[in-house]
Amino acid sequence: MLKSIAVLTSGGDSPGMNAATRAVVRTAIFEKVAVWGVYNGYQGMIADDIHELTSRSVGDIIQRGGTFLGTARSEEFRTEAGRKKALKNLQSHGIEGLVIIGGDGSLRGGALLSELGNMPIVGIPGTIDNDVWGTDYTIGSDTAVNTILDAINKLRDTASSHRRIIVIEVMGRKSGWLAMMAGIAGGAEYILVPEAKFDLSQICRELKSDYERGRRYSIIVVAEGVGSGMEIGKKIGQETGIDTRVSVLGHIQRGGSPSVEDRLKASILGERAALAVISGVSNRVFGFNAGKVVGIDLRDIVNNTKTLDPELVRLANVLA
Ligand code: F6P
Repeated sequence: MLKSIAVLTSGGDSPGMNAATRAVVRTAIFEKVAVWGVYNGYQGMIADDIHELTSRSVGDIIQRGGTFLGTARSEEFRTEAGRKKALKNLQSHGIEGLVIIGGDGSLRGGALLSELGNMPIVGIPGTIDNDVWGTDYTIGSDTAVNTILDAINKLRDTASSHRRIIVIEVMGRKSGWLAMMAGIAGGAEYILVPEAKFDLSQICRELKSDYERGRRYSIIVVAEGVGSGMEIGKKIGQETGIDTRVSVLGHIQRGGSPSVEDRLKASILGERAALAVISGVSNRVFGFNAGKVVGIDLRDIVNNTKTLDPELVRLANVLA
């Protein structure tokens, strides 16, 4: 049993990170284990921005988006010297284990830290992108999809009033998960993702003939990984001759009070991760598979890329 652990959030913030941090902290305290917060991600670990937390430190945060611990990108952590410094800082506080809450890149950082040895490391997938291998779910993705859905619903009202085509660009630099989930749930006619080929000219021809047959409006969801929504919208407008508008949702998708699903799953994963690291488990990431908590090998996450479910791509085509 470890006597002292730390928790950090890293990468892009996501709604529910606070709920996960709260669960890690309160589980440790329940187990009579000291718990420290690393502020501002790996950069804060290098700068020794590390402070002991109490149960009260995580009061009044379960409902808040973002991460009260802060998060930052760190160039220095990419170097071995930076990681050694970070590890030394943790050890100087008597910290014996670490819980990392973050996406693919942050978990990759955890794997590199763990290569230095001497420190059990456990992860929790936290990113709105839902693109961590081995888990169906990442913290924040549910809230983000609901934010996108709300936007789609509103854009439908104005699209139908004007008989317009609306292109909605959503986040997902490398992954189309967010676009696919929101597009299917929002009833989009087309969902353009980096993982599936599409022919924009063919789409334009279809849109034109649909409008000629009386279609009132069209919703097209574009993952940012496909390219600029603005450019795609411009091309659609030019090729179809139909009035087209583009909405780029941007960082609005990352904010907001976490949904029930994000709060609940973050709390469950936070407890599991804390208990695991306290008992000395290392190189494990806790996620969900078919509704059940699963432990995934951190090295498998680092060495694999989550692919978009082809069933969802097929379904999107059938329902369009
Ligand atoms: O959180 C992941 C993500 O939302 C990506 O989909 C997006 O490309 C990226 O963050 C942008 O983040 P930032 O502007 O903070 O670099």
